[in-house]
Amino acid sequence: MTVKKNTGLIRIENVSHTFHTDTGVLPVLNDLTLSVPKNGFTAIVGPSGCGKSTVTRLVAGLLKPDKGTVWLQGQKVNTPRDIVGMAFQNPVLLEWRTILQNVMLPLEIVPNAMSSAEREARAQDLLKLVGLSGFEQKRPSELSGGMRQRASLCRALVHRPEVLILDEPFGALDAFTREDLWQTMHRLREEEPFTGVLITHDLRESIFLADEVVVLSGRPATVQYCQKLKQRGPKSLDQLYTPEAIQTLNILREQIKIARKDEEDKL
Ligand SMILES: Nc1ncnc2c1ncn2[C@@H]1O[C@H](COP(=O)(O)OP(=O)(O)OP(=O)(O)O)[C@@H](O)[C@H]1O
Ligand SMILES: [Mg+2]
Repeated sequence: MTVKKNTGLIRIENVSHTFHTDTGVLPVLNDLTLSVPKNGFTAIVGPSGCGKSTVTRLVAGLLKPDKGTVWLQGQKVNTPRDIVGMAFQNPVLLEWRTILQNVMLPLEIVPNAMSSAEREARAQDLLKLVGLSGFEQKRPSELSGGMRQRASLCRALVHRPEVLILDEPFGALDAFTREDLWQTMHRLREEEPFTGVLITHDLRESIFLADEVVVLSGRPATVQYCQKLKQRGPKSLDQLYTPEAIQTLNILREQIKIARKDEEDKL
């Protein structure tokens, strides 16, 4: 598989956003500023409902902020861009397509010059990389939850997006499957560098995968705390139990407590 040179870069600049509903206004983000460097991987954690998924929708161009700007590769984000790949907690694979056809779907939608044989080879390469060789012709319902999520990651990456947005992609999986997928994420990133944003509630996951962890405050969310990790996330699970990792987890846990308290105080 060819390794792609990547130029992705995300910048969220002084973004505020309020939802207007039948029951009133809900300020969700308040003057939020953060950037992810090219080929960086930032995890965003914060209290439930603080606005994390809203941030991903802004970066993906699915939502326009009331105030402030979102930039991708130096260009203002106004509409969805094909340089973004996304994966969510629920893989939403199409049951009437095989796993291979599901993974190939973005190549049918995003304009590209690939022949159908090239598309298939690309999808097969990715499936191999995540350990799904031999399952190409299965339907989604014939796969386990972890396997479906692996296929969903392949689908998010098949068109070689500059930016990968993951919104709690491993949240519904059991602990062992989740840890397997963490290793898969490292492999994917090594093979084809991308600029990533990971939303998670799992602090161990955040330090295992990311280069930087951003803690959002209670709603309306802003950046409360940033923890740069010394190196790219650890590669082996043992490294999550070093004194340094435990200290980082304790700091993050403390920050989440502050964010939740902050939210309670605002209610
Ligand atoms: N389209 C919308 N219209 C109105 N309110 C919305 C909309 N989308 C989200 N909200 C509200 O905005 C707040 C933030 O939602 P968001 O989904 O961004 O939170 P989150 O941090 O991802 O939460 P969780 O951790 O539970 O996934 C929530 O109170 C939610 O109900
Ligand atoms: Mg969410």
